[in-house]
Amino acid sequence: METELMTVPVEEIDLGDLSLWVDGPPHAIFDRLRTEAPIHWSEMASWDGEPGFWSITCAEDVHAVSRDWEAFSSERGGILAADHSVPIEFQNAMFIGMDPPRHDRIKALFQRGFTPKRIAAHEDEIRAITLRVLDQLEGRTEFDLVADVAQPVVGRVIGSFLGAPEEDDAMWADFANRGLALGDDELQPEGEGTVLELIEKGVMRVIEMAAERRETPTDDLTSLLVHAEVDGERLEDYEIASGFALLVAAGNDSTKATYSSGMLALLREPEQMQRLVENPEMIPNAVEEFLRLFPAFAHFRRTATRDVEMHGKTIREGDKVILWYPASNRDETVYACPHQMDIERTTDHQAFGAGGRHFCLGTALARLELGILFTETLKRYPSLRLAEEPDAVRSLFANQPRSVRVTVG
Ligand code: HEM
Repeated sequence: METELMTVPVEEIDLGDLSLWVDGPPHAIFDRLRTEAPIHWSEMASWDGEPGFWSITCAEDVHAVSRDWEAFSSERGGILAADHSVPIEFQNAMFIGMDPPRHDRIKALFQRGFTPKRIAAHEDEIRAITLRVLDQLEGRTEFDLVADVAQPVVGRVIGSFLGAPEEDDAMWADFANRGLALGDDELQPEGEGTVLELIEKGVMRVIEMAAERRETPTDDLTSLLVHAEVDGERLEDYEIASGFALLVAAGNDSTKATYSSGMLALLREPEQMQRLVENPEMIPNAVEEFLRLFPAFAHFRRTATRDVEMHGKTIREGDKVILWYPASNRDETVYACPHQMDIERTTDHQAFGAGGRHFCLGTALARLELGILFTETLKRYPSLRLAEEPDAVRSLFANQPRSVRVTVG
């Protein structure tokens, strides 16, 4: 399929076509767009009632659009390629779907929960969660790094950071997986409750938790948010609940995806895995390379607030604009041999966004958690082997393998 698309006129390529995403992001097409059509229009023709979009694929352009919130709004429309994935009103209730000044006011309050001190204080807990999950695999000769390691660790890490009880982890993971599926039917099976039902249930849970923390303050993030004040103003319950949902979604699928993709890449390149096993001090740098090659989220979307000229094309007011991180992170004008994994490469990337107002709030937590996950997995299992070639999740947003089944060597 991709080979055929290398010869069709570039205007006929529709990046909304899920058949292009069977093996994950369509890198060969992104390579072509960066050189032939750095601003490119896709119709989303196979998606019922979803708007078409402009694709931005070069690192410099992703950077420029990310920083220009006045021309490229996060609030004037949804932030995901499919408007019907998560209700637009709910996307706009989360600060990732707001513009300044509302965005800045709410983010500032949430930032208090993400100080270096608070994150460092969670390190022992993250390690304990990881070791407990790995202990549960004792005696098994085959398991799945996604379902048996990544999911239980990331769900409990974000749950414990926020102060949510462990029995809610499955509900929040379901909310994150369904909301962010964007095309993948297995992540969004029919008949098990809609995203809207999960949102309603989750919001009620957070409102209950907020009421408890108001009565009895604790040292978790929910308590901090309930009591935080900026210029005499406090967060409303719905602002806490929608921010909480944002953190759960961002905290679940992101680190799970990066860990799973990184482990899969190492299993396919055993000599690089061996280098990390023997030199664990290289893990933080390797994590940056995994983030570059396999950004957990394939895109975020903006809406133009005025006509903007770019590379000879006119983006009209109201048009949707998508920032494709898997494309910008492999821009050949920035990275030598961009598709190659080199765990010693020292470069920046755009996996956490490309600067500007919406730059990821969770970078320090994600880096700490990923460092611990890779370190403890490789220490416990220095000679894992891939049991079978996995499928990628077929999604315009979630960039991750469906499973990574391994045998203990
Ligand atoms: C591998 C891990 C992660 C990746 C790749 C990632 C990626 C991103 C990206 C691409 C954005 C949007 C940037 C933009 O639109 O310009 C973002 C925003 C955000 N992320 Fe992350 N993220 C990760 C982990 C986390 C974690 C662990 C949390 C919190 C617990 C988190 C919380 C957020 C929040 C709250 C925003 C919205 C910021 C805003 O709108 O101002 N992320 N992240």
